[in-house]
Amino acid sequence: MTAVLAQAPADSDLRSVPQSNRNGVLEVMRMRRDPFGYSEQRQVQYGPTSALTVFGINMVTASGARAAEQVLMNKDKAFENGPAWSYFIGPFFNRGVMLLDFDEHRHHRHILQQAFTPRALKGYMDELQPMVEKRMQRFPTGDVKLFSEFKELTLDVALEVFLGLELPKAEADKINKAFIETVRAGVAYVRKPLPGGRWWKGLRSRKILEEFFYANIAAKRATQTPDLFSVLCHAESEEGHTFTDEDVVNHMIFVLMAAHDTSTITMTQMAYRMAKSPQWQDKARAQALEFDAHLAYDDLAKLDILDSVLKESLRMCPPVPAQPRMAVKDTEIQGYFIPKGTFVNIPQLTNHRDPEFFTNPDFFDPERFGPDRAEDKAHRFAWTPFGGGVHKCIGLYFGQMEIKTIMHHLLRGYEWSVPADYEIPMDYSALPVPKDKLPVMVRRR
Ligand code: HEM
Repeated sequence: MTAVLAQAPADSDLRSVPQSNRNGVLEVMRMRRDPFGYSEQRQVQYGPTSALTVFGINMVTASGARAAEQVLMNKDKAFENGPAWSYFIGPFFNRGVMLLDFDEHRHHRHILQQAFTPRALKGYMDELQPMVEKRMQRFPTGDVKLFSEFKELTLDVALEVFLGLELPKAEADKINKAFIETVRAGVAYVRKPLPGGRWWKGLRSRKILEEFFYANIAAKRATQTPDLFSVLCHAESEEGHTFTDEDVVNHMIFVLMAAHDTSTITMTQMAYRMAKSPQWQDKARAQALEFDAHLAYDDLAKLDILDSVLKESLRMCPPVPAQPRMAVKDTEIQGYFIPKGTFVNIPQLTNHRDPEFFTNPDFFDPERFGPDRAEDKAHRFAWTPFGGGVHKCIGLYFGQMEIKTIMHHLLRGYEWSVPADYEIPMDYSALPVPKDKLPVMVRRR
């Protein structure tokens, strides 16, 4: 007989969640090695919703667009972000907006929203364009590890557009390293600050980032410039609320983290897919050449081929592969009883391969997003790379603006390829990144 997470109340129609009695840590390791095969096998064995226990914590994975809608829309206020995300990134991204809930979240999000209005975005685009144009002039050719290049590029964008600071290389490298270490710390198996370990490095890096932002905040409050740091220092919600210095530092650290790796991963996936399917690279380039090198903000929406490649890359590999939540009261998901204190996981990486919504889901096919097929619209939670509900990504337009601008220049100036038998070796242990950093051959056009 299959074990269950907890018996559903006898006076209800709810089902109990089946629970695997295998070693939870080994299960997580299997999942990280092959998330798609693992998910399929679990669903065949247990159905869409099943539990496992890892380090004494009960974790339920609730697969499918309907479960995603229910949990992320959170109509009964049964799920919280704070206790779930804090488990992974709490000490490193303390008080980031994604870790706040309900009234407090609403309060902070309203102020933060001022930094992402169309007017603010156009200001960032004006800052972004010339620096991307200049930077792409000296994009390397020959054997290039594209993931590393994109990572460096997005960090340069972040320093320019988010911080509005010109840093000496040594300091920029220090900040970059601090980000990498804080992000990696969240998925450490050893969750204690043992010297030299991932957790310890994450805490050390958080301190470096805090010191950096506090050192610069007075200057940012003194004048108004178009960068995000300055915008947050002066942001005021419609109710007249503003951020304290501490809020600004916490939000800057969180937003930089949220923007940096997600954009890098998306561009890496787009470049990989366009190298594997050169006909898409050619099509996207032909469209890029119909526009000027210097894009107007309104041009972004017109680059529809690049847009479909972007959407399909986000489907096949969403940079945030899952969304964790904590049940803060007894509740249900799609008819399964979820007791208070359960950790719930919405697996968008595998949800994006659901054959109910996506034809031939393992196949790269940007046309599925065209108006005649519109597979992503079959259910409003079928395609959710930016999440959904009140925590839906606040930077989704910023991210797409940055990614499209960079890819536009790459397509116009360069061609890139991989050997026909190359398959990207993915590391799914934190955010999904290529183990080999995506080596490609780049040629100037
Ligand atoms: C392709 C790029 C990006 C992807 C795929 C992405 C994905 C996501 C996802 C899935 C969430 C929701 C997490 C949850 O509900 O648990 C989220 C939240 C968030 N993202 Fe993004 N993101 C991207 C780029 C950005 C950028 C560029 C920024 C900032 C400039 C940003 C800032 C944020 C913030 C602040 C939140 C938390 C919002 C809240 O809790 O209210 N993201 N992102």
